[in-house]
Amino acid sequence: MPTPPGSRLDPHHDRYAERARTMTASEIRALFAVASRPEVVSLAGGMPYLRALPLDDIARLVERVVAEQGTEALQYGSGQGDPLLREQICTVMSHVGIAAHPDEVVVTSGSQQALDLVTRIFVDPGDVVLAEAPSYVGALGTFRSYQAEVRHVAMDEDGLVPAALVEALGTLSAEGRRAKMLYTVPSFHNPAGVTATPQRRAEMLQVCREAGLLVLEDDPYGLLGFDGQPPRAIRADDPDGATVIYLGSFSKTFAPGLRVGWALAPHAVRDKLVLASEATQLCPSSFTQLIVSAYLRTQPWEEQVKVYREVYRERRDALLEALDNLMPAGSTWTHPHGGFYVWLTLPAGIDAARMLPLAISERVAYVPGSAFYAGPDLPDEARRSLRLSYCYPEPDRIREGVRRLAAVVERELELRATFGSSQATQDTAQDGAGPAPDTA
Ligand SMILES: Cc1ncc(COP(=O)(O)O)c(C=O)c1O
Repeated sequence: MPTPPGSRLDPHHDRYAERARTMTASEIRALFAVASRPEVVSLAGGMPYLRALPLDDIARLVERVVAEQGTEALQYGSGQGDPLLREQICTVMSHVGIAAHPDEVVVTSGSQQALDLVTRIFVDPGDVVLAEAPSYVGALGTFRSYQAEVRHVAMDEDGLVPAALVEALGTLSAEGRRAKMLYTVPSFHNPAGVTATPQRRAEMLQVCREAGLLVLEDDPYGLLGFDGQPPRAIRADDPDGATVIYLGSFSKTFAPGLRVGWALAPHAVRDKLVLASEATQLCPSSFTQLIVSAYLRTQPWEEQVKVYREVYRERRDALLEALDNLMPAGSTWTHPHGGFYVWLTLPAGIDAARMLPLAISERVAYVPGSAFYAGPDLPDEARRSLRLSYCYPEPDRIREGVRRLAAVVERELELRATFGSSQATQDTAQDGAGPAPDTA
């Protein structure tokens, strides 16, 4: 077994920087090794369904990029990113109402790196970052690695609650502190599956403007809506970018393996982002940027986005219908109009993290809600919540997954009724009740 970093057996345990101490793997990571076995229906991962891509066309496109632009594609490039791709990114952003100039775009290795760069240039250890409750786990990991203090702000079916934002700002000011930024995923939220209404977006922008608070708008799913026009980005109504930094990505509309995302920021911030990016990676991959650029130029990418939308809509429908038919009374869930995720809240008393080993032994996996909160002090509702992803499994597998999950929840409720103890799941899991994943 490898030596855990930071343990006394690790020869470097007393050398780590303070920030590395905050970098810890979650307990659920080990369970996911099991969850990736084929007999387990995984409703856990957020992997796009790449079989929907025309792989033969992409193979030809890659071959052409190497044949025609090989010395450029395989060379170092600009720290800010390929100029033509930055122009094309501006066209992509026009679909969410943003009018931007290519000079304001910094290409990054996925939007995850953009999150890292923005945090790197704005957040000092101990600074407060406001984030929705719950929040994207990758952003929380980034904020933690820069030793930020994350404070959650309530969300409901209409997105972040402005009154809760005002309250959080008031509390901070009473403490003599200020938040550095508000992190938000307003469209087809990961993990909550909700979308902020236009009214909420306007209020959020106004509150942040008045408070001098930077908004970090993370929008990887904005084009993956199931009904009508994509939601208008918050950044679209902050034309000079004085309040909002916008992050986008090709991971969900094209392919995540390419690692191409971007940040849109005013010139001064852009300069800092480029310097921070150069310090990390010199330049984003020329190769994958040129592939994305050629894809946008020569392939019907908007049609492909429609194909993705239809695939995910069908899966969303399968999941919602199965939840309707199978989940025990007292369960509630969100009804996403796009993106990949449903947020499921189980009946009172159930702890989704504790139930996970039992669920995996019954061959279904999810991510417990606790993973999407920064601190250990969880509201009760978060403890009994979990994220279900419908993006990857086929509809029949989704239905089977919900069948298994519902049976686990029913069993958990019965155990609780019989023993009346919060130990129910833990004891069952430790006793190894239920079939082992590979023998069932
Ligand atoms: C809300 C959100 N932001 C950022 C990312 C990172 O995406 P990428 O780095 O692949 O662009 C993800 C990935 O799942 C996400 O859900």
